[in-house]
This record gives sequence, structure tokens and C-alpha cells, in this order.
Amino acid sequence: MKNFNYKNPTKILFGEGEIANLSNEIPKNAKILMLYGGGSIKRNGIYEQVTEALKGYTITEFGGIPANPEYEVLLEAVAIIKEKQLDYILAVGGGSVIDGAKFIAAAVKYEGNEAWDLLAKREEIKAALPIATVLTLPATGSEMNPRFVISRRATKEKLSFASPLLFPTVSVLDPSVIRTLPERQLANGIADSFMHTLEQYMTYPVGGLLQDRFAEGILQTLKEIGTRVLQQPTDYEAASNFMWCCTMALNDLIAQGVPSDWGIHAIGHELTALHGIDHARTLAIIAPRYYEHCFEDKKEKLAQYAERVWGITDGTMTEKAKQGITKTEKFFQSLGIETKLSNYTNAYEGTAEEIAQRFTERGWLGLGEHRSVTPENVMSIVKNTY
Ligand code: NZQ
Ligand code: ZN
Repeated sequence: MKNFNYKNPTKILFGEGEIANLSNEIPKNAKILMLYGGGSIKRNGIYEQVTEALKGYTITEFGGIPANPEYEVLLEAVAIIKEKQLDYILAVGGGSVIDGAKFIAAAVKYEGNEAWDLLAKREEIKAALPIATVLTLPATGSEMNPRFVISRRATKEKLSFASPLLFPTVSVLDPSVIRTLPERQLANGIADSFMHTLEQYMTYPVGGLLQDRFAEGILQTLKEIGTRVLQQPTDYEAASNFMWCCTMALNDLIAQGVPSDWGIHAIGHELTALHGIDHARTLAIIAPRYYEHCFEDKKEKLAQYAERVWGITDGTMTEKAKQGITKTEKFFQSLGIETKLSNYTNAYEGTAEEIAQRFTERGWLGLGEHRSVTPENVMSIVKNTY
């Protein structure tokens, strides 16, 4: 196992009814900007629960953060915070709203000219406003991690960044919120958290026995409850396990002491930027073809995964590893997620070249745990998804 330093400062309030306890966590004199998305919280009772819990607080609302949070919209929220001298952000939503909150929290304190540079030039974040979150969509893990991913539609870019200053102070995880999620978003959440786990697991063995078991535990649980969640989002037991899996998949615990490979996410973000495909679905498109490309490097872990998560005990290591890839693709399909780019867009020609060129321009010359996946390799991986 490799050396590591690990600190996760986010406090979690988990369970039905916990939104009511928000006021124990947010300072009474906080001047809050409450962020939310396109309005689902106003239709499912979450808005009422939050405003009831925070009676007596000074709250300014800012709704309309779109899925794949848009830079230009977030800048409007930055301007409101500055104008009204607000000092606390409450994000009520899924990954898009929470990521948006993180960007806003940093952009308000940013002293350069163009806040986009935080992402484009990866400038160190030196200060940020505190953030609390009420999660309404289990998927990204953003509620307990320091990362954010922001889109800029004008330039078809989607970039991610992180800072230890951006861990939410507190996050409320009430599993009953999934009752109103459309099947598409439930499937996205299962696939995204499954892939977060795999990105931190599917490399090569380093003797991180416990980390492997943590990761396999999350994968097995998602596999076990996936259909239940889709068919019966009112099943509280399934919802609770689903929500906690998503958080645990990307609060960095399972990554400690082991290599990781975020290559599938890096390529997937480009498919969202270029074609507007849901984040989780881009991962389902790329993952099988990426693992085929990196087969030799990942075969031991692929075989271990096939054996422990999918119960495949027959065959050689190579045969089991191949089965691991097939099972993964079939799992996504069983959730109703298509795994070919052409299932989502007719304009797929040229995508591979465009992504390879972008990676070259950005200096992303080697993805993967060995930094060995070149832009040319990326081009062939993406071509194989057509
Ligand atoms: O906008 P509203 O009206 O709220 O509707 C949302 C949105 O349309 C809806 N929704 C959310 N909660 C609901 C609900 N509908 C009914 N009932 C509820 N309880 O769901 C739609 C999608 O929401 P969104 O927040 O976009 O989804 P998700 O949580 O999957 O977030 C995706 C974003 O997170 C980024 C992705 O790239 C993408 O931009 N990611 C962030 C990560 C991180 N910060 O660590 C890691 C991930 O890998 C990912 O990249
Ligand atoms: Zn993801």
C-alpha cells in the first residue's frame, strides 16, 4: 500500500427527516445564498422542508442552475453574493447544483480577471465561502468531496478542479428524496457511482486489501440494489444503501493508498461537452472500450473484479478479465443505459479526432495509472464506441 494523508471534514446528517436539523449546523447569523436547479425541489416538497428548517435566517434564493452547471449562470450568482454581501452558500440539488456552489464559493473570493482561469489554468484556490448541501440526487459524491465540474457552452468545454477549501461543511443525505427522481436519473446515479468505484479500483494490485474490499463492497451493493432502486424508488432500504454507496464511492476513502485512473471520466466529460450526453451515460459508453484498450495493464484487477463482484470462477485470468468487461457493459444495459455513442447522436463522426486534439492542446498526453494512454490511443478508444 502507498503512503497517504487523508482528511475528510464534511459532516453527514443521514436519514429521513434530517433536513429539519439543518439549523443546528448553519450559523444563525449566516447570510445565505440558497442555490437550486430547474425547480424539482419546488415540486417534491424539499424546498418547503428546507425553508421550514431555516426559518428566521436571511436567505436569498438563486434557482435555475442547469444540469452540467453553466459558467455564465454561476457568474450571475457570484454577482448577487458580492452585491448583497452574502457569506454562506446552501446548495439544494444534485451534483450540478453542488458543483456550481463550489465554483461560486471560490469565484467570489477570486482576485484575478476571469474566474474561468480557476479551471482552465488550475489556479490555486486561496479562499472560499462555506457551503452546506442538501442532496436530492445520489450519484456524484460531490456532497462529501472537494471537486467540481463546470461547463461552458459557448466554447463547448467542461473542466474539473478541486480544493480542500471546498469540502461542504455539512451535507444532508435524506434517502427519501429519490422518490421523485425520474428513472433516467436513478440509472445515471447507479452508473456514475459504479464507475467512480471502478476508476479507483481498476488499475493494478498494490496490496490494498481493505481498499479492494471496500470498493468491491460498493460494487456488489450497487449491483444488488440497482433494479430495486429503479423499480421501487419508494423502497427506503434500497434508497438508503444507494445513497450511501454513491457518497462512499467518491469521498476519497477508497482511493487512499492505491493507484487510480480517471481516464474514463476525462474522455466522458468531452462527450458531454460536445454532444450534451448525460455524464453517467458517457462513462458507460467509454468504459468497456477503455478497459479493452488497457487490458494488459488492468487484467489482474479485471479478473479479481469478475470473480468477486460477478462470481465468475471458471477460466484463465484473461478469460475472467474479459468476462468482467462484458458483465460491466451488460450491467449498464440492464439499467436502460445504451453503450454506443451512435445510440445518442448521429453526429458522432469526428468526435474521436476532436477529443484527441483537445487533449493534445491541453498537454494531457498520458492518461491512465501509468500515464500511458496517449491522445492517439484516446482517438482509437472513442472510435470504437461509435
Ligand atoms: O434541476 P432540477 O429541476 O432540480 O432537476 C434535476 C436535473 O434535471 C433532477 N433532479 C435532481 N434531484 C431531483 C431531480 N428530479 C426529481 N427529484 C429529485 N429529487 O435531476 C437532473 C440532473 O441533476 P444533476 O445535478 O445534473 O445530476 P447529477 O447529480 O448526476 O450531477 C451531474 C453533474 O455532476 C458532475 C457531472 O459532470 C455533471 O456536471 N460530476 C461531479 C463530480 C464531483 N463533484 O465529484 C464527479 C462526477 O464524476 C461528475 O463529473
Ligand atoms: Zn462521475
